[in-house]
Amino acid sequence: MKRITIAIDGYSSSGKSTMARELARRLGYTYVDSGAMYRAVTLYAMEHGMASADKGVDTAALVKALPEIQIGFSHPDSEGVQHTLLNGRDVERQIRSLEVSELVSPVATIPEVRERLVRLQQDFGRQGGIVMDGRDIGTTVFPDAEMKVFVNASAEERARRRLKELQQRAGESPSYEEVLANVRERDLIDSTREVSPLRKADDAHELDNDRMNHQQQMQWLIDLYNKIADGQS
Ligand code: DC
Repeated sequence: MKRITIAIDGYSSSGKSTMARELARRLGYTYVDSGAMYRAVTLYAMEHGMASADKGVDTAALVKALPEIQIGFSHPDSEGVQHTLLNGRDVERQIRSLEVSELVSPVATIPEVRERLVRLQQDFGRQGGIVMDGRDIGTTVFPDAEMKVFVNASAEERARRRLKELQQRAGESPSYEEVLANVRERDLIDSTREVSPLRKADDAHELDNDRMNHQQQMQWLIDLYNKIADGQS
């Protein structure tokens, strides 16, 4: 069967990464978390004094440093999670922190950053057999993807999920209100930025997962995949 390209876009903390990763595992496809790549660039900027909560982002310095930033992924760990590598260093935990979350949206509005990461993402997908999640995968990175999904959920539900993730993956415990404010702020920046704003591709299938458990979401995805794959063969 032809190995297709699957683009999964949606708002932050809509659960798309968990779904995308599992779909890739079930199909034997490669999974790429494009948000992790924007987070890794943000971490680099923070570590090199080019981004901070009080001063914001020094765009000119970051654009100049872009050739020095290499991003990759490790082999999946025992739980099937690939760790993000920044210049060869495992930064999976650091990139999930609230500090990075607060600075990543402005970094992701910089056209030069997007250009470089989009090219890298397209390279990952050359052979097909890929599931990539993000904001502009179905619109910009892989406009010809055979399967496109747009995931939606309320800001409140997404803040609850994000808080859980922060506690489990970054060892942080901010308040629910703080996380909700960050989710809303990112929604606004992501959907109103000039380059590749978050929007549903015309040919994307919408999944509203507010009231769906993980198993129901996976079933929905697999059914859609089977329907699309049948049409391809
Ligand atoms: O999915 P995430 O929350 O890890 O994404 C982090 C940030 O990166 C998010 O605020 C928007 C940005 N992003 C983007 O602009 N384009 C993508 N394809 C993926 C993420």
